[in-house]
Amino acid sequence: MRILNYGSLNIDYVYTVDHIVPGGETISSSRLQVFTGGKGLNQSVALARAGAAVSHAGCIGTDGQFLKELLADCGADTSRITTGRERTGNAIIQVDRNGQNAIVLFSGTNREMTEEKIERDLADFSEGDWLLLQNEINLNARIMELAYAKGMRIVLNPSPMDEDILALPLEKVSCFILNELEGARLAGETEPEQILQKLLQRFPEAELVLTLGQDGSVYAYRDTVIRQGIFPCKTVDTTGAGDTFTGYYLASRMRGEDPETAMRLAAMAASIAVSRPGAAPSIPVLSEVEAAVRETCKKSDGLDAAD
Ligand code: RIB
Repeated sequence: MRILNYGSLNIDYVYTVDHIVPGGETISSSRLQVFTGGKGLNQSVALARAGAAVSHAGCIGTDGQFLKELLADCGADTSRITTGRERTGNAIIQVDRNGQNAIVLFSGTNREMTEEKIERDLADFSEGDWLLLQNEINLNARIMELAYAKGMRIVLNPSPMDEDILALPLEKVSCFILNELEGARLAGETEPEQILQKLLQRFPEAELVLTLGQDGSVYAYRDTVIRQGIFPCKTVDTTGAGDTFTGYYLASRMRGEDPETAMRLAAMAASIAVSRPGAAPSIPVLSEVEAAVRETCKKSDGLDAAD
C-alpha cells in the first residue's frame, strides 16, 4: 500500500517579529530565515519521517530544486515532481514572540498542474492505495475524480480553507483531517461537537479527525469518538504543526495501527514540531516521537502508582 501526496512545495521566508503586523503599520523583523515548506511538502516529509512509503507529486520552478532534494533525502519518491515555467511557490511568514504565525502565499508553480500531468502521475496507482490532498494546488477536483475511479482512498486536509474546497466532490473523501476553523466553514457550525455531528451526518462513510489547538484533537467515525490531548511544550513556531500531525496520523493508520495510537503519535510529533523553528525542518523522525511517547507514559504510570 502506497500513498500519493499531490501537493504544494513552497520556499518559506520566515520573519521573526514582535507582533503580527496590522494593516497600515510597518514594523521591522529581527531575523529572516529561509526554509523548505508548503503544506504538501511538509506532509510528505512527515509521512516519510514517520515511516510511510510516500510519493510526492507536484511542480517546482528552477529555483526550487532543493525542495525536491529534501524530499528525496527523507526517502520520499520524487519522480512525480516536475519543473514548471513560473518561480516556485513561496510563503511570507511572520512568527511573533509567542510562536504564532500569519502567512501570505504566492502559488507560483503550485498552480501549474495539467490534465496530462495528473493522468501520468496517477497511472501507477490502484485500488487500496491512498491519495492525500491539501488546498494549495490547482485541479484538485480532477485529481479526486481520477483517484476515486481507481478505487484509491482519498484523504483531504482542506487547508487553507476557501471557496474552492466547497466546490470539490467531497462525498468521495474517505478521511477528513481538519482544524476547527476549517471544520466550522465546512459544517456551518462553530462548536466542535456540532461541527462533528454535522460532518458525520453529511459524510457518514468518512473518518473525521478534528484538531482543536490547545484542546487537542478528536477522531470520529460512525459511533466511535476518541479524544486526544496535547503534549504541552514551549512554543517556538507553530508553522507546520498541523502538517506534522497529518503525516504522522496517516503513516500510523497505513501501518494498520488503531486511531487511538495514531492520534497519540500525531499529537506528540506536532508537539515536538512546535518546539522548533521552521516547517519541514521542525518535523521529527519516528524514533524520537516513539521515545517521547514512551517517556510520557512512564511518567504518567509513575504518577498513577504514587496516587
Ligand atoms: O502549513 C504550513 C505551510 O503553509 C508553510 O510551510 C507554508 O508554506 C504554507 O503553505
